[in-house]
Amino acid sequence: MLELLFQEAGLPAYELPPALAAAYPGGIGFTSPVLYANFVSSLDGVVDIQGTEHVGRILSGGVPADKFTMGLLRACADAVLVGAGTLRASPDSRWRPSSAYPSMGQDFSLLRQRLGRAETPQLVLVTASGKVPLDHPGLSDGGLLVTTEAGMANLRSPVPAGIEVLALGESGVDWSALVQVLQDRGHKVVLSEAGPSVMGQLLRDNLVDELFLTVSPVVAGGGEGAGRPGFAAGVRLLPESFRKGELMSVHRSGSHLLLRYSLGTEKR
Ligand SMILES: NC(=O)c1ccc[n+]([C@@H]2O[C@H](COP(=O)([O-])OP(=O)(O)OC[C@H]3O[C@@H](n4cnc5c(N)ncnc54)[C@H](OP(=O)(O)O)[C@@H]3O)[C@@H](O)[C@H]2O)c1
Repeated sequence: MLELLFQEAGLPAYELPPALAAAYPGGIGFTSPVLYANFVSSLDGVVDIQGTEHVGRILSGGVPADKFTMGLLRACADAVLVGAGTLRASPDSRWRPSSAYPSMGQDFSLLRQRLGRAETPQLVLVTASGKVPLDHPGLSDGGLLVTTEAGMANLRSPVPAGIEVLALGESGVDWSALVQVLQDRGHKVVLSEAGPSVMGQLLRDNLVDELFLTVSPVVAGGGEGAGRPGFAAGVRLLPESFRKGELMSVHRSGSHLLLRYSLGTEKR
């Protein structure tokens, strides 16, 4: 399914169950604490088609290699971070390893046991408005809802059992404080599956250690004002502010490229 084209020497490597090792040549592992993000983008750099559901699937074409990698990245994580925009646009997502790639569900569970992870990653949902559907299936195992003082006031109560609410900031969440809170709770390996609005802010604040980027061979079209952003939306980086990745690995599946970059943030 995946062919390894390049891998930097000496990367950390978890002891993968055989089926996962065979499916992901070169292996995977992380030095913690770490925050890594996962995106699929079109050839022309689009990661969202605003106003459309299931954008990831549309952009990736639903290819097994991308779904498997998503499952593997979730299987490695203590916690998965999503923004409310992604939650609202993904009405049936659960952010579990097995929901990305069900046929390897048992292998993902075995890896989590070996790593001493909980059965499923903790879902961390970020909302400024507090206006989120608390009955979303992604929250059915519980989760940590991180909001603002203003968002607290808007949260519809009662909040279902198993969902913990935390206010971290007045009008916007303080991202460094959030990362610290997660680490303090033992969530040292964090996957962001948030969309471009949260990702832009995490990049601005230098909090993203690694990026997994699937480049899909589709061309989305769009342009300025078309609601089709790249993965660093809402923030201005170049030319004033420089973020540069260093290539860690490249996998290929047909015409899809699956890239792993270190973004070189300092370890917290
Ligand atoms: N191509 C891919 O790989 C990929 C990956 C992820 C998502 N997506 C797509 O991206 C779209 C969603 O994009 P998005 O940018 O809206 O998603 P997002 O970044 O996950 O969520 C944005 C929401 O996060 C909350 N938020 C943002 N900044 C905040 C802050 N400073 N403090 C507190 N809360 C904050 C806000 O929620 P409130 O509005 O509730 O205040 C905001 O609307 C969906 O279509 C999804 O499918 C694509």
